[in-house]
Amino acid sequence: MDRSLVGKDLPTALRILAVLTLLAASAPSPASAQSPTSAQTNYPWSDRTLSPDARADLVIAQMTLDEKITLVHGVEGPLAQQNSLGGAGYVPGIPRLGIPALQMTDGRSGVANIGSRGRYATALPSSLANAASWDLESAYQYGALIGTEVRDLGFNVSLGGTANIIREPRNGRNFECLGEDPILVGKMLGRELKGTQDQQVIGNINRYAVNDQETGRFIGNSVIGKRAMQETDLLAFQIAIKESNVGTVMCAYNRLNGVYACQDPYLLSDALKKAWGYRGWVMTDWGAAHSTVPSALAGLDQEMPTGRFFGDPLKAAVASGQVPMARLDDMVHRILRTEFAVGVIDNPPDQRPVNPFTGADVAERVEERGIVLLKNGHSQLPLDAAALRSIAVIGAHADMGVLSGAGSDQVDAAGARVGGWQGVVWQPSSPFKAIQAKAPHAGVAYDAGTDPAAASKLAAASDVAIVFVQQHTSEGSDVASLSLPDDQDQLISRVAAANPHTIVVLETGGPVTMPWVDDVNAILEAWYPGIRGGEAIASILFGDVNPSGKLPVTFPKSEADLPRLRIPGMEPGAAARPKASSVPFDIDYSEGMKVGYRWFEAEHKQPLFPFGFGLSYTTFSYSDLRASPGKDLTVSFIVTNTGARAGAEVAQAYVVLPQTAGEPFKRLVAWQKVDLAAGENKPVTLMIDPHYLSIFNVDTNGWDLVPGEYQVLVGGSSGSTPLTTRVPLSGG
Ligand code: BGC
Repeated sequence: MDRSLVGKDLPTALRILAVLTLLAASAPSPASAQSPTSAQTNYPWSDRTLSPDARADLVIAQMTLDEKITLVHGVEGPLAQQNSLGGAGYVPGIPRLGIPALQMTDGRSGVANIGSRGRYATALPSSLANAASWDLESAYQYGALIGTEVRDLGFNVSLGGTANIIREPRNGRNFECLGEDPILVGKMLGRELKGTQDQQVIGNINRYAVNDQETGRFIGNSVIGKRAMQETDLLAFQIAIKESNVGTVMCAYNRLNGVYACQDPYLLSDALKKAWGYRGWVMTDWGAAHSTVPSALAGLDQEMPTGRFFGDPLKAAVASGQVPMARLDDMVHRILRTEFAVGVIDNPPDQRPVNPFTGADVAERVEERGIVLLKNGHSQLPLDAAALRSIAVIGAHADMGVLSGAGSDQVDAAGARVGGWQGVVWQPSSPFKAIQAKAPHAGVAYDAGTDPAAASKLAAASDVAIVFVQQHTSEGSDVASLSLPDDQDQLISRVAAANPHTIVVLETGGPVTMPWVDDVNAILEAWYPGIRGGEAIASILFGDVNPSGKLPVTFPKSEADLPRLRIPGMEPGAAARPKASSVPFDIDYSEGMKVGYRWFEAEHKQPLFPFGFGLSYTTFSYSDLRASPGKDLTVSFIVTNTGARAGAEVAQAYVVLPQTAGEPFKRLVAWQKVDLAAGENKPVTLMIDPHYLSIFNVDTNGWDLVPGEYQVLVGGSSGSTPLTTRVPLSGG
């Protein structure tokens, strides 16, 4: 941690929780009652000098058919109730051979679903907030914190995060995603998962693949061409897997081009295992298995959370020869070699208190790096506490806390689980109190924002009005439109009309539309801000932290500019289809490769705020671009902080391929977040991986670097690339 925790003023709730968590950790638990693993007993495979593959094979040689079947599916019911830690999934171990049970928990923005068991876990900012930092170190810290707490809570498998790109800005799970660009998603998630697995818990990447909306998630059929899929959705998975060596891949609920993802040989075997050389195991999403023999032969290795298809039916299929024993051995091998490689057998989790102070510190740093300043008219921000006599804080329960996203990624609010699976949970970090602390001599007043007349009256009587607005999103449903719910657009307009110094703070799952954009002075996108969100927002508002986040997703002006006016399954007349019906329907991704900013560019549409955009309290300039062809294209340039404050700039490099590639838009190929003191300049050199410049060839099932002239563009967002040059590449 880069800052001392001593003397941190944590909310009282957190202090109490720190004590509770210490007490809970000392209570006996199923995990501490587990049988010894091969770490404690001397088995032939206990020899750590052997490779994980050799060790796995030694175990398999001793296993009965029943024992093999045990490892390839989860269990629920009495056995799980007795032995599971209450996470999302439980796979019994083989005590006779020292193989531990797999205790799985969701862990995309922290360890989920723990509060009901009286335990505490850190609610980090959403994955999308983390991605908005464009900061690989921040991503690593985020993943490492999750891995540490997963371990401290006794689990050995962390189910997160997702590499699905944001194709659909109305998707209810966008807050779990890392953006719309495959390279940004792949790199950031790769670092995050590396951070998790470095804590010796098995990581997971989900939900493979093209699982880009929730409406009809069990029955939807994503339709997309092979080249487009490889260059977008699959590329994000491929990069993240390569960067992290993640141990498990979770296949998705949806069908892809007519085939269920969990029994798709193209996805599971041809791409993942053969082309990408993936050596971990594939588990289903919860209830996403649809068959025994086709799934096993396609490359599925484990069914979760039960053994409906991979329990007795798989045993029978192996006995009858429909599934070769070698395929079952491969499933088991993948599971065991991963356990050895990651360390969960040699160094099993040993339950201990979660440190809420460390967690809060990481959560605050990540949010500070991920908040995006979208507008700052008349340089209204940062606020000068000494010059303010009165501040109106309005809306979104800002007196109490900050919003979080719902579903299996929901980290319980400090103290308890509230509101059920899709419930609205506010993390106890009060922006109002944090603002008061920054401006102790100003009168800070709160208005709930439920009555625009009352809110605008308070705003009119205040020096500055800060309106907090929210958009709650959840796994299991999408938002019908990108408008803020509950008439909050009207609230903002009324407040802005009453006070010319109006600032809007957004707590949203992803992009929203802003009909009031010209009427307010300043806009901050804070995403779902996590357990120290209030403090991080206040630090940005008052300039203790200079904003440096950039949008990982395009913000459109209106739904009319998207590839689809409505989410498939939500068209008029289709209202009942998503959940109730089992009639499959197509989700037609005919925009193909033109996702997000590529769509806007190719279709000549102006977004509200472009991908990669974000302001700072200082300014940056770019100069001296050079691009030298070679084995790897190298791009170098200079970034200068031209303002009077220290700040960080995310310098982005984009490339337009030669015309023959047929891609009339630029691609992000690299970036670097550069910290610069006032007036300082730094050279930046980016080596571009040839893979990121290549196109997928469906005839050869490989990647081609098209020969010709490449345009290189460099700048601070996809919408502003002041430097440009051309460079020939010979292809290959
Ligand atoms: C979600 C997964 C999650 C699993 C276990 C499913 O509903 O789609 O992301 O890991 O539940 O909680």
